[in-house]
Amino acid sequence: MSNLISEGASQTSGVERVPVVIRDQAQEIIASIAEEIGQAVKQSETADKPLVLGLATGSTPVPLYRELIRRHREEGLSFKNVVTFNLDEYYPLSPDHPESYHRFMRDQLFDHIDIPKDQINIPSGTAKREEVHEACRAYEEKIASYGGLDIQILGIGRTGHIGFNEPGSGPRSKTRLVTLDRLTKVDAARDFHGEHNVPRYAVTMGVGTIMAAKRVILMAWGRSKATVLRDAIEAEPVESLPASFLQAHDNVCFFLDQAAASELTRFRQPWLVGFPEWDNKLARQAVTELSLKIGKPLLKLLDKDYQENGLSELITEQGPAYDLNIRVFNEVQHTITGWPGGKPNADDTHRPERAVPAKKRVLVLSPEPQDDVLAMGGTLSRLAQGGHEITVAYLTSGSLGVPDEEARWAAELMIEAEEGIGSKLAKQVLAELKTKGESDNDSVQLRQFKGYIRRNEARSSLQACGVPSKCVTFLDLPFYEEGRYRRFKAGDTDRDLLLKLLNEVQPHQIFVTGEAGDPSSVQGISFSVFSEAYNQARQNVWVSDCYVWLYRSDGREWESHQIEMAVPCSPDELRTKAQAIYLHRSQRSQVPILDEEKTEVWELALERNRTTANNYDKLGLAEYEAIECFVRWS
Ligand code: GLP
Repeated sequence: MSNLISEGASQTSGVERVPVVIRDQAQEIIASIAEEIGQAVKQSETADKPLVLGLATGSTPVPLYRELIRRHREEGLSFKNVVTFNLDEYYPLSPDHPESYHRFMRDQLFDHIDIPKDQINIPSGTAKREEVHEACRAYEEKIASYGGLDIQILGIGRTGHIGFNEPGSGPRSKTRLVTLDRLTKVDAARDFHGEHNVPRYAVTMGVGTIMAAKRVILMAWGRSKATVLRDAIEAEPVESLPASFLQAHDNVCFFLDQAAASELTRFRQPWLVGFPEWDNKLARQAVTELSLKIGKPLLKLLDKDYQENGLSELITEQGPAYDLNIRVFNEVQHTITGWPGGKPNADDTHRPERAVPAKKRVLVLSPEPQDDVLAMGGTLSRLAQGGHEITVAYLTSGSLGVPDEEARWAAELMIEAEEGIGSKLAKQVLAELKTKGESDNDSVQLRQFKGYIRRNEARSSLQACGVPSKCVTFLDLPFYEEGRYRRFKAGDTDRDLLLKLLNEVQPHQIFVTGEAGDPSSVQGISFSVFSEAYNQARQNVWVSDCYVWLYRSDGREWESHQIEMAVPCSPDELRTKAQAIYLHRSQRSQVPILDEEKTEVWELALERNRTTANNYDKLGLAEYEAIECFVRWS
């Protein structure tokens, strides 16, 4: 990825309509935002007025809150002169509910700093319906009574919402009761143990309330936000994307990590906004995009096509089209291999994997059970057929993803299978499920039981791919066992457990995912645990002979120009893959899908593999049923 990084107001391209700051990792950005807040806090101490801070929830601000807590503890940063106003709260929801924003703010920030309780303001999720309007008005008045918000911290939802200002919110909207968008509820479903438990409504500050803040800081991490950010930053402001209204703010800044910024024109099509250096990678990106955009296979592109599509500089430098087309065609062609573990006794000069050793030790790291087969079920089958020594390691148990209904089903089955005697654990599980409220945390025992469910699903799924159970290992990393969604915290023990596995297996190949995930997601954390462990392992000999392949199981597949290894799947292989994914029973949709939309994970995964194949076909390469794809990590 190019390292075009712009600072605040100095925008590199005319396309971006707000100041944007980009860094490789969220952590690098957090320090500067915490510094800005720290400075403002200190200035307020000398002024005769408290600092009025607008705060956000969600996983995005968690690292910022951790840094503020650290500064409070280690550097004496005091919040005694700070008044806070939170953006929003679910409605109706009690402040003690584990997913309420009241509770979230206490856990993540307020309980760890010295802010007086009466200086904390969060919209109420428990006001009577007929009193909500009045409570919202009072909230606005209270903000105004302090002279307005000095700094407003924001995240962004996948619908483009800020606070809970869903699409359709007007630029002058104020604090009010809103109905949550379907996508927002889907995103919150994991936290609430199912979409049906997510409250229908929320009370949120309006877009107008946010716009009135003197300074607005929007943060976003991970690839899942990249598309909505591109629109919020580059497109005309529209009601269907409330974050785009921030373009009109005179002191706003978007702070993004590289993954969240990846869809911006300066990265996607840098030739449209400047004079990029045309290395091979960028040339391949431009040529494949041109081919797909105008619907012409690579080998049929003409000089004229390049010239008419903003690529005359490329064709002048590296043309004529005939030569450039062939070069890129060959590059793409060489990504295709039916031998993901390397083809024995073959010339591997242009193959993605080495021919030697013919039998490799392959380590597949899967953040949760199912990530592996979703992205690489077909590749796993091929590796198994190739006789490679495979180890599939599940980094976390995945127990948090098992609905109670599935646990009940499994416990009842156990009891019935034991002819009414039943194991102690199954009986305890059923007893807990009987009394457990929908927002209660699972006991350690229930989490363990749900973990067993996922273990068994994972084993049978891998068997469908031809990978026997003896190849499977479950790490149950502590960050997951001790945490909950959005609040995980990895430590040295996690890294050491993985390091031990790496050194035991000494792999020639590692398949891993999560490099562009939200840093607080299971995938994102799993990847950072992996990269730390791998770095520590670097002095070992096996590392110098190891290729690390990145796969994606989060629904956002690699694009044609990025792919470095493309493993085709025949129709039969794709059926096997579908079966392998389907065997993760607890991960199937819990609610029967009534509309036409494909929402089952196995359907979506297959669709992605078909799309990749279809794109290769459109580029003029061979026509495959489906393709799984990988990028090499360096
Ligand atoms: C919720 C909150 C928003 C937040 C968004 C994104 O909808 N109301 O304020 O920005 O989630 O959440 P996350 O940061 O977890 O991606």
